[in-house]
Amino acid sequence: MKTVKDYIRSIVDFPHEGIVFRDVTTLFADARGFRMAVDQLLHPWAGMDIDKVAGLEARGFILGGAVAHQLGTGFVPIRKKGKLPGAVISESYVLEYGEAVLEVHDDALLRGERVLIVDDLLATGGTAEAGIRLCRRLGAEVIGCGFVIELPALGGRERIEALGLPVQALCAFEGA
Ligand code: PRP
Ligand code: MG
Repeated sequence: MKTVKDYIRSIVDFPHEGIVFRDVTTLFADARGFRMAVDQLLHPWAGMDIDKVAGLEARGFILGGAVAHQLGTGFVPIRKKGKLPGAVISESYVLEYGEAVLEVHDDALLRGERVLIVDDLLATGGTAEAGIRLCRRLGAEVIGCGFVIELPALGGRERIEALGLPVQALCAFEGA
């Protein structure tokens, strides 16, 4: 019986030498694999009171949309800078080289709404932390974060747990 991890393709030296890129397109493209990932992602939260799923651009949209559909909640996109048409709030975060910015519409979440954050990969946790900060600034209550992959060597889980949130990852790859 194949696991979610078995559907993920590893591509060496992408985007640059020495990096092994964990490619979830092969997971998404497989009907069984994609359903398995979505079912497992929503499993810990099923039965909990959740108002919205927030997905982190870009692969978090694919997963988060499916999870929201299954949970029967709305979906909120947390996007890279300059993509959302309405009034936004922004949070910057540190990347390997330089800084990036995530944004959310300032009316996308209501005060007190309970939000699940979804993305494909937890590495350093910088992206997820920026997403959490955005949700919290709108007065929403983040109840947890779900990922397909975690890279434990990069410490993202500890970083998110230090914010008081449970972290769920469907599989892990050792090394960065
Ligand atoms: C990747 C991945 C996560 C993030 C994890 O996204 O999809 O969103 O990095 O890294 P972190 O835990 O160290 O923050 P990327 O920034 O490459 O953008 P993309 O999803 O739009 O391709
Ligand atoms: Mg991403």
